[in-house]
Amino acid sequence: MTMNAQTKLRADNIDEMLKAMTLEEKAKLLVGGANNFFSANAVVGGEADLVAGAAGTSPAIPRLGIPATVLTDGPAGVRINPTRKGTDKTYYATAFPIGSCLASTWNTELVRQVGQAIGNETKEYRCDVILGPGMNLHRNPLCGRNFEYYSEDPLLTGKIAAAYIQGVQQEGVGVSAKHFAINSQETDRTSVDERVSQRAARELYLRGFEIAVRESDPWTIMASYNKINGQYSMGNYDLLTKILREDWGYKGIVMTDWIGIREGLPTITEVQAGNDLMEPGQPAQIQEIIEGVKSGKLAMADVDRNVRRMLEYIVKTPSFRNYPASNNPDFVAHATITRQSAAEGIVLLKNNGTLPWKDEAIKTVALFGENSYDFLSGGTGSGCVHPPYVVDMLQGLENAGIKSSPVLTNIYRKYIEFAKVKFQAERHPAKWYQREEFGQQKYPEIAINPICIDNEVKDADAAIITIGRQAGEGVDRDLNTEFNLIPEERALIMDVCNAFHAVGKPVIVIINSGSVIETASWSSYPDAILCAWQPGMEGGNSIADLLTGKVNPSGKLTMTWPIAATDHASTKNFPGQLDDYTFQMMVGSSAPIPGHAYTNHEEDIYVGYRYFDTFRREVAYPFGFGLSYTTFAFSQPKVKVGKDAVTLSITVKNTGSVSGKEVAQVYVAAPQGKLEKPAQELKAFAKTRELQPDESQTLTMTIPVRDLASFDEAGSQWLTEAGTYTFHIGSSSRDIHATLSAKIAEYTEKVNNALAPSQPLHLLKH
Ligand code: BGC
Repeated sequence: MTMNAQTKLRADNIDEMLKAMTLEEKAKLLVGGANNFFSANAVVGGEADLVAGAAGTSPAIPRLGIPATVLTDGPAGVRINPTRKGTDKTYYATAFPIGSCLASTWNTELVRQVGQAIGNETKEYRCDVILGPGMNLHRNPLCGRNFEYYSEDPLLTGKIAAAYIQGVQQEGVGVSAKHFAINSQETDRTSVDERVSQRAARELYLRGFEIAVRESDPWTIMASYNKINGQYSMGNYDLLTKILREDWGYKGIVMTDWIGIREGLPTITEVQAGNDLMEPGQPAQIQEIIEGVKSGKLAMADVDRNVRRMLEYIVKTPSFRNYPASNNPDFVAHATITRQSAAEGIVLLKNNGTLPWKDEAIKTVALFGENSYDFLSGGTGSGCVHPPYVVDMLQGLENAGIKSSPVLTNIYRKYIEFAKVKFQAERHPAKWYQREEFGQQKYPEIAINPICIDNEVKDADAAIITIGRQAGEGVDRDLNTEFNLIPEERALIMDVCNAFHAVGKPVIVIINSGSVIETASWSSYPDAILCAWQPGMEGGNSIADLLTGKVNPSGKLTMTWPIAATDHASTKNFPGQLDDYTFQMMVGSSAPIPGHAYTNHEEDIYVGYRYFDTFRREVAYPFGFGLSYTTFAFSQPKVKVGKDAVTLSITVKNTGSVSGKEVAQVYVAAPQGKLEKPAQELKAFAKTRELQPDESQTLTMTIPVRDLASFDEAGSQWLTEAGTYTFHIGSSSRDIHATLSAKIAEYTEKVNNALAPSQPLHLLKH
């Protein structure tokens, strides 16, 4: 068939399209249509304003009926501008629980529902792709973006991400699983070289992405800013072609993270590596591709391969279908989903029996802590969301019929008003992530005079102290002021506990933080501790649901809470080594500042509980931990060893007096053979439905033999060594209820030899 001038893109004419497109059109399609973020210095096609505040676009080619597609951040909801010029209409989006909260549900079906609601808002706001889920591992508790990510464990990361992706894509829009790969720090993220063994890369940092690719087929993947073993991810053939497409069979597109032209990385190298879309896109990149082909440096076949993938992506999008977006998502329905999912992701860390508050025993609460009144629904940076409202603690308690102290409300509200003005005045112009449009800021806690605390004791039945932490894109967290408590917070906990305990009244601490904080030094003081994370815009309601027992907590930690942040094995190499490398901050300052040139992953596979459990180190709260208002009994499990998989089943019974859900977590100890093994690794999990007292449920979990493998660098293969494997089933990595063993035969699977380190690494051994 010959193409005439009228022929337009269809799902079934991609071959013809490739023939009809000029080199210029092909090059254009591989370069983003510029975005609002960087629009001042990168405007390519004028599509930037399609949806105000969206992060970027893929360019339109009207001659061929190729529409622009719109890419919006993610991942906790749709990040677009809430207001637009020339209209009173607002464009708020539901703020759903952040990644660490969602993962703490260990409930893939619930996460799928959240994904679907997010996908729906993406579509109704006329966007085609949500830039999430964030899937990097919690290598160290100080990473600024841990809140967006799920866990220190790759299996949990992969399963939660796959559920989120399935949910989003069910709505006929796409995701961008990010940041591929090994982007577990913010410090110098655009230049740092992550030096890592092939084994740790395959088993830990890439494994979650592998699971998500195999189980949920993401439309797009975002290549990270950093280098891996000397080469930028964005131009890394080993990563984007050998591993992602050849080993895993990925069929979708890869886009860059938002950098444009990179020093030392030609756009043509990115095209060759298998990177299909340069974001946010600059005209010079189009030119570079055209000239690359003309000069013979870039093969036309490489361009055609990427263009084909772009066209295959475009024909799936709402923009291509001309979907009539309503700009009017169902906030009421989505509020219910966010409220429920947050309540299920919140983790009860301590309870001496004071919770739940039943039968209106608690009528009035003294509410302390700045974030009780200025609740943090999510983190900062591109991962922030602009919700129509945020239910804070005050409002959440009031909705549950519980009064709060007016004196404290007045003190804190006045302080917050003052702090906002002061912060605006002091904010550093170069720190883009401190701008209001990139999320809510955290103001320092204020001291509350002990006399004022004493005055509250008389009228209140209990005290709540909210300890808030904010973090986000662009900076890692500060050990002393962000992981540890500051003196004002410490004093507040001590003084409130002393005053309330003197008259036998309880104190509850709510942790309103996207990631781990120090607890060991103060956790013995309050009666109960709830880690509420940053639970989205219904946060205060979700917390009240748990306090009052309307919902029984069933969230479980997806990362270890260490006694000190420095207990993690990655500490020595987080955020990496300084040398005489210098770079310029992406925004602002023209003065070169010293950078962290590389990060040696010397801890290798010993990340999170793999380290703490193997090296037997004490922790504040172990991986998988979370309390309930009821108790559960686990039966003796049954095991069936098949040729390709091990099937385990276990019956969980609610032995307490209120209904609740429990997670069965399967930790496998492999035989020590040719390859060193961590003490145990999470290989499967399942959550019960809401079980009534005395009710039981049998959970069946299948572990493919392939999933028991370690990565054998010498043979470039996955290797499950023959021998006896022990399966520990419990409700945390350190609370095992049942154990059994099974003999497994050897399994091997050859893969590409990719991402080899270019210098020796001094790896931690047990
Ligand atoms: C972030 C991405 C984000 C993109 C677009 C980048 O700086 O790393 O996570 O999706 O900006 O806003």
